Amino acid sequence: MQLSLCTWAEVEAYLARADAIIVPIGSTEQHGPNGLIGTDAICAEAVARGVGAETGALVGPVMSIGMAQHHLAFPGSITLRPSTLIAFVSDYVFSLARHGFRRFMFINGHGGNIAPLSAAFSELYATASLDPSGSVPRLRCTLRNWFDGPEIGRLSRQFYGDKDGSHATASEVALTQFLHPDAIKRVEMPAVTPTRRRFTDALDLRALHPDGRIGSEPSLATPEHGKALYEAAVRECSTAWRSFVQEA
Ligand code: NI
Repeated sequence: MQLSLCTWAEVEAYLARADAIIVPIGSTEQHGPNGLIGTDAICAEAVARGVGAETGALVGPVMSIGMAQHHLAFPGSITLRPSTLIAFVSDYVFSLARHGFRRFMFINGHGGNIAPLSAAFSELYATASLDPSGSVPRLRCTLRNWFDGPEIGRLSRQFYGDKDGSHATASEVALTQFLHPDAIKRVEMPAVTPTRRRFTDALDLRALHPDGRIGSEPSLATPEHGKALYEAAVRECSTAWRSFVQEA
């Protein structure tokens, strides 16, 4: 069930029986020689919609721009500052809280969002904690990276061994190939160079990782892998959703 395809009356009816919603969050940033700029948003949104179809959860609009400052030396990448992302999450969540939503599960597709999202949750909780009147809604937020489950880990090792990498991974490229077969890119690429150290800013990342990959061999990706990864991610995130909404 997608919020954007509901009427307000349907949302009101949903709120009569539930107070939880899924928020997909991704990024718009370079994903190496054959990866789509929209990879992280595409994956998060597809998995979130799959969980919505599986569980009846309402799925909010995807936050398709994330914290990706480190990718800005590659054309097409867009970032929010961490502080902007925190403000964006806060406004998104408090808008829905006004109507009665209390639990928010963010299905995330981008590692760079993890720290600002965690800070955003602390900001939301601090708003309630610092309000002596107790009138600020008490919310519960959780973050689920679609790529973090044990079944995804097993598939990644089975398909790619130690070549999945940490950015422009073969797994995420495979997932987009399954979702968008018409946008599959065939690009020759050399064996990836080992990661020397953690990058800092955009120019540093490009100097360390000239074609945008970090430790990955995304030429190994196939749409068939993507289908298996998609189904595993929907299963694992659906399980996480069910336990989140049942938490006491
Ligand atoms: Ni990504």
